[in-house]
Amino acid sequence: MKGVVLAGGTGSRLRPITHTGPKQLVPIANKPVLEYAIDDLVEAGITEIGIVLGDKGREAIQEYFGDGSEFGVEITYIVQGEPLGLAHAVGCARDFVGDDSFVVYLGDDLMREGIADLVEDFDPAEFAAGIGLQEVQEPSRYGIVDVDENGDVVELVEKPDDPPNNLALIGVYVFTPAVFEQIEQLDKSWRGEYEITEAIQGLLDDDRRIQSHVVHGWWKDTGKPEDVLHANRLVLDDIETSIEGTVADQESIRGRVQIGEGSVIEAGAVVRGPVSLGENTTITSDAYLGPYTSIGDDCLVDDAHIESSVVIGQAEISADRKIVDSLIGREVTIVTNEQRKPEGDRFVIGESSSLEL
Ligand code: G1P
Repeated sequence: MKGVVLAGGTGSRLRPITHTGPKQLVPIANKPVLEYAIDDLVEAGITEIGIVLGDKGREAIQEYFGDGSEFGVEITYIVQGEPLGLAHAVGCARDFVGDDSFVVYLGDDLMREGIADLVEDFDPAEFAAGIGLQEVQEPSRYGIVDVDENGDVVELVEKPDDPPNNLALIGVYVFTPAVFEQIEQLDKSWRGEYEITEAIQGLLDDDRRIQSHVVHGWWKDTGKPEDVLHANRLVLDDIETSIEGTVADQESIRGRVQIGEGSVIEAGAVVRGPVSLGENTTITSDAYLGPYTSIGDDCLVDDAHIESSVVIGQAEISADRKIVDSLIGREVTIVTNEQRKPEGDRFVIGESSSLEL
């Protein structure tokens, strides 16, 4: 079985972070979201993987994953170009998948327990497709599915105003090639996209059976900044301590921490896990890192208090401030304004930034 990971889309809800890179490379505990999808496919025994790319940050994804060998997989890149919806993206993978069943995984989703059970359960002799489901709080934000007592899907509807229940499509699907004929017949939806949810409904309308699989363990779509922070908390909850860098004084650290190669925690700094630090990052003696914080590569954190936040990388934070619940992009500088006059905070902030003071 092959895997198809969808990594197109514009990432508009993650601006300004996505002005300079694709949302699928946003790190969660110092690992790009998309790499979690690749790992889940590998765990399910799938190593022939097609990544469907949009226009946004295409080169960055190709540069990070290369031919896949570093990740134990063989990657084929498929260019979707204009983002016309999930069904359009899946349709672009037709030649790549050929005549076999295949898994589709949304590249900005994270699943704690992976997809091995879902893939193993799928029976292509009985079903035209299999879908991963989970109960959600806000069903009108998702594709919602009605199932019968045997778990057979009865109806699907994309972002319903009046949801029949709260069982949502979580963005992992197993398809037989029958889905391609349905994709060809689709019209654009109210949001101007070709919806994979409607292609699956088309299979049902043709009297094909759709298998459902309720996925246990948390699941997170990382579309918005608060989702990235939440996903970061969920992943950090499961990390184990690993220290490849230097900790000047072990007393600095409490709880589980990951410290990458070349990173330094100076004596006097206080680090309260779970915390993940990338490579070549320095935490100086005056700094405090609180629980649920991830700091990327090549950062300097000096005299700042940071908790429950994600700092993507190459940032300098030297401010005697408390920074909480924040998503801080690459090459950001946050320093204390030493100049006495004029008094006040000074900013150089790009388009779509958001500040809460
Ligand atoms: C997409 C699907 C939707 C699914 C969701 C899961 O929504 O269309 O059915 O529930 O992913 O993340 P979108 O992220 O395009 O709004």
